[in-house]
Amino acid sequence: MTQKSLRIMLVEDDADDALLISGMIREAWPQAAIDHNPTAREALAGINGAYDVFIFDHRLGENAGLDLLKTFRTKNVDAPIIILTGRGDQEVAVSAMKAGATDYLRKSKMSTETLADSIRHSLTLHQESKRRRDTENKLHKSHQEIVQANRELKESVKKLKTAQNQLLRTEKLAGIGRLAAGVCHEILNPLNIISGHTQALLMEREDDEVLVEDLRSIMEEIQRIEKIIGGLLKFSRKGEVDLQEMNINKELDSVLSILERDMNLEGVHVERLFDPGLPAIPLDSDRMRQVFLNIINNAKYAMKSTRGGVLKVSTEVLAGKNGDPASSGEKAGSTLRIKFTDSGPGIKKEDLRKIFDPFFTTKPEDQGTGLGLSVCHTIIEKHGGTLEVESRENGGATFIIDLPCTREKEPVAG
Ligand SMILES: Nc1ncnc2c1ncn2[C@@H]1O[C@H](COP(=O)(O)OP(=O)(O)OP(=O)(O)O)[C@@H](O)[C@H]1O
Ligand SMILES: [Mg+2]
Repeated sequence: MTQKSLRIMLVEDDADDALLISGMIREAWPQAAIDHNPTAREALAGINGAYDVFIFDHRLGENAGLDLLKTFRTKNVDAPIIILTGRGDQEVAVSAMKAGATDYLRKSKMSTETLADSIRHSLTLHQESKRRRDTENKLHKSHQEIVQANRELKESVKKLKTAQNQLLRTEKLAGIGRLAAGVCHEILNPLNIISGHTQALLMEREDDEVLVEDLRSIMEEIQRIEKIIGGLLKFSRKGEVDLQEMNINKELDSVLSILERDMNLEGVHVERLFDPGLPAIPLDSDRMRQVFLNIINNAKYAMKSTRGGVLKVSTEVLAGKNGDPASSGEKAGSTLRIKFTDSGPGIKKEDLRKIFDPFFTTKPEDQGTGLGLSVCHTIIEKHGGTLEVESRENGGATFIIDLPCTREKEPVAG
């Protein structure tokens, strides 16, 4: 600010004093623009004027200059305000400083020099505090930007980790799948020969009770191997999926109704939380039913140990890419989410990484092969989706299937 442009509002009810003070100011700043207001009311009318300094006489008839000062400060006027006090107004000076005055001057001791000093001092203080405020604001903004960047970074790291896990799991399963497919065919041939010979022996030596019993148990074991190999082949199956537009709610409902009676008998209550507005999406319905069946059966089995519980099955469309609400509004890349939440004991932390591995099972030998979830994973992956698991400390597991879908399609009844 140049001295020429200095604008001052002087609030002084004594015309002689006003003349004197204006003269002193002009002595120091000949070009200064001084607006003289004799009353507080007139001063308030000019509150929004672009003044560099305000000078208020403390004694203003009915309204003390102190009240005027407080009003200006509550109305966010931050320009310097100098209060002129009279003789013996020491307490007023202290109160004025507390109420936000930039400086005070004893009228009786006022001279061109002291007044000019006070104005200069007030202007410097004002500029410094403005600079400080600007710096603080900038700092605050930078801090917020850093916090936001940090939050985004954490989010990205989390997403990266999930993607990495998914990739590792997919690669691992694909490797095992290739190996399994080769081994299965190698095993099936000799197994067929053993099975043929055993059946022939059974017919030839049907009188030999001891032998027949042994041969029958051999046949049972052969069937067990065939079942395992069948599962492994399903897991490693390379064939394309047979995709047809279908309504997930309908398929889920149909699988649930097969198992529900049995589950109710075991004290498991099923809650369907289906979004009725789901779009139809291309799915291989046989394989998808297989996925639902395994996840629901796993939950049912888990809730045996808690003697029943609740299985919540929900469907919804998540807006935005990968269901990220931040990018909602993007039509393409929307995600259809199916969630199975049970109130069973949950999955141990150390098992969470292993449950998708073929043959990982915590069930007794005759009750599970450990192929269920690895098959589910392969099937969901073939649909371009993901299968994830969450397990809570205090029990309960949630399996989340995310499938790609576009919302432009009309929902189908069902
Ligand atoms: N809802 C669940 N609650 C607790 N543990 C679960 C749940 N679902 C899966 N698991 C764990 O994951 C393991 C692997 O499941 P998966 O379906 O692959 O095999 P399985 O059920 O043991 O055998 P299979 O499905 O071949 O009959 C289970 O043995 C169990 O330990
Ligand atoms: Mg299973």
